Amino acid sequence: MGSITLTEINFRLGWPNPGLLPVDLIKEASQIALSQSENFTRESLLQYGPDDGYVLLREKIAGWLTSFYAPERAITQERLCITGGASQNLSCVLQSFTEPSVTQFIWMVAPTYFCACRVFDDAGFAGRLRAVPEDDEGIDIGYLAEQLERCASQEQIPKDSMKTFRTWSKFYRHVIYTVPTFANPSGRIMSLARREALVRLARKHDALIVSDDVYDMLQWDCHASKEFKLRKTACQSRFVDIDAHLDGGPIDDFGNSMSNGTFSKIMGPGLRTGWAEGTPKFAWGLSQTGSTRSGGCASQFGAAILAQLIDTSLPSYLHTVLQPTYARRYYKLISAIKEYLLPLGVAVSPPDKSGMAGGYYVWLQLPDHVKVQQVVQLASEQNLLLHPGSMFLVEADLSKCQQSFLNGVRVCFVWADEDLLIEGVERLAVIVRALSVDTIPTLAL
Ligand SMILES: Cc1ncc(COP(=O)(O)O)c(C=O)c1O
Repeated sequence: MGSITLTEINFRLGWPNPGLLPVDLIKEASQIALSQSENFTRESLLQYGPDDGYVLLREKIAGWLTSFYAPERAITQERLCITGGASQNLSCVLQSFTEPSVTQFIWMVAPTYFCACRVFDDAGFAGRLRAVPEDDEGIDIGYLAEQLERCASQEQIPKDSMKTFRTWSKFYRHVIYTVPTFANPSGRIMSLARREALVRLARKHDALIVSDDVYDMLQWDCHASKEFKLRKTACQSRFVDIDAHLDGGPIDDFGNSMSNGTFSKIMGPGLRTGWAEGTPKFAWGLSQTGSTRSGGCASQFGAAILAQLIDTSLPSYLHTVLQPTYARRYYKLISAIKEYLLPLGVAVSPPDKSGMAGGYYVWLQLPDHVKVQQVVQLASEQNLLLHPGSMFLVEADLSKCQQSFLNGVRVCFVWADEDLLIEGVERLAVIVRALSVDTIPTLAL
């Protein structure tokens, strides 16, 4: 098969499109940040900063999130801690709020964002990751409730504690990891009812919900229209907003959820800057993690640049560039999927009830008679790169609840050239068609 002549189409990589990285905006913002003398001297931007992060950025993020999520009460900077991005912060959360002798299991909505598994392993939870199935409304609450009840009824053998107890943190009994909006990899949005039920369940079982809210701002209408319809508010409440008011608010000072936000998906992962939100006590406890206390918060200079951008151009860049561009890519991909793949028995997740789509990914479920490993292998011979369902397994969970997505593929529509999206789907369709009629296909492209 003549793979060399075909241009590579990479549907695997979940990175922002290089052409959409706002190089000039960042250049300008860094120049402004380095010329200012108000609040902070220029030099302080290149110094260690406060534990909970560059105060100006925390103030700006508080205002920006308040207008986007429209929570019952305005978000205050005490609820926020600046981070070195969502992955680095996940590690900090685990360092400060889990203890392998107290924290029993890490529950991950499956299919899951695979890179998170390593972070949990590194924190001492290897072999203790557990999958929780996902359906069109999000996490399977019934399944998780049953599993948590079972854990509660089993007698715990006391183990030696490995960490020192500190007044500014607590060790949760469980962690629940989820990407509830425009999930990686399924693209789904968890419904409000499921989110509320999950907060109640977490409170009952002393669990911390770690919510990677990293794609929330990349949203658009499911259905294409002549003119791009801009929506400036989030399509769903975050767990932290629900936990802040549901049934009278958090049951203790730490609450049961935290939001992990990042600028990686909107401004560029090279900045490696993000924010964490939780109750003020949680946010402060997080800022006291040892690696942060060693000098101060992550990304002080990145934070100064972003504080400039939030004020000036970040919202308009999101609204006038990123959202319409990614929406256009999404519509192209979905319409090609409808034309070439649905007739072959491939399924794509139905549009969400909210009418919104977003994020970076679309999930395709192959018909049973077509085997995903063969598809991915043949696709790579055609220079079409895809991640199979097995990439998104919760590691070492041997339960049957992960079978349902194994014969699927994740398609990232953000990295590849826009002009190649339709061709990518066509290449995939040729492979699926060939495998549908013959086990040893001859591909004619
Ligand atoms: C769900 C999810 N969380 C976290 C990250 C990484 O975020 P950061 O670059 O802020 O570490 C990604 C990147 O793909 C992601 O998809």
